[in-house]
Amino acid sequence: MATVGATESSAVQSDSNRTGRVLRVGPLKPSLMDTLAGDYDALVLPDVAERDEFLARHGESITAAVTSGRTGVDATLIEQLPNLGAIVHFGVGYDTTDVDAASARGVVVSNTPDVLTDCVADLAVGLVIDALRQVSFNDRYVRAGRWAAEGNSPLTSQVTGKRVGIIGLGRIGSAIADRLTGFRCSIGYHNRNEIADSPYTYSPTAAGLAGSVDILIVAASGGSGTKHLVDSDVLDALGPQGYLVNVARGSVVDQDALVERLADGRLAGAGLDVFADEPSVPEKLLGLDNVVLLPHVGSGTVETRAAMEALTLQNLDQFLANGTLTTPVTR
Ligand code: 8YV
Repeated sequence: MATVGATESSAVQSDSNRTGRVLRVGPLKPSLMDTLAGDYDALVLPDVAERDEFLARHGESITAAVTSGRTGVDATLIEQLPNLGAIVHFGVGYDTTDVDAASARGVVVSNTPDVLTDCVADLAVGLVIDALRQVSFNDRYVRAGRWAAEGNSPLTSQVTGKRVGIIGLGRIGSAIADRLTGFRCSIGYHNRNEIADSPYTYSPTAAGLAGSVDILIVAASGGSGTKHLVDSDVLDALGPQGYLVNVARGSVVDQDALVERLADGRLAGAGLDVFADEPSVPEKLLGLDNVVLLPHVGSGTVETRAAMEALTLQNLDQFLANGTLTTPVTR
């Protein structure tokens, strides 16, 4: 694994790569967009229709791009910015940025790890509880007057003591495991490689893990290496008593296969914060009471988004000051 950024002397940018303009790529937290405009005089990448003219005028002057996993900087844009030195992400995920193309050009890349771990893990546990105990369904049940009209709602499934499998036992996956240990859940995981000294049970395959648990939680990074890692075989191994929770990226799960199985009872339920083509959510899911649907809000608290914003600006400032990054991405 090569380290991109501060620890590689070849990746430290020369002065000439730091004296140009900052470019915002895609929408960001409003206060961050204001700061970039006001304090950094940042340019904003326009829509595709106006992009050629914009790049012809400004492309050469741009040395730092600020973006998020929602938009990213692809290989084409990297190519179009000949003096780009850094791609700074607001967010931990950077699967929409072509890190290989950036590395090949010596462009350093940062993200905002750690500061959002607790909030995303909290939400994953919230989705587990909601999916199994049907919190959202029961809320709708009361609001619709069904309690008074139809009596008690159906019984649900206990969380405490369940067998949990985590796909991607990284920072966020580990924080989810810590929390669910408090619910006396047994924890297994699947990663590309077994983690030495992990207290949790390793499964070399995602299907093997799914077949041994009641709840499968997706916490792996997105990107080509994990695309549809949770496919129809994995979902079938989880089975009709099984629940899927995804707080990572929609791309990790075969969404069509998931929707079919939730609709026809081949899975018990799901809690989803992420989708294959956000903000689109498959129409079929909207009518299912065994699914909890959230609009990608894992890190969406005042505290965590403020910490992500501060770390984004710290990376940008450090790059502009000396060509290095605070939290470079390692691959
Ligand atoms: C952010 C995320 O909402 O950090 C990530 O990778 O998915 C979320 O925390 C997103 O990056 C901001 O657009």
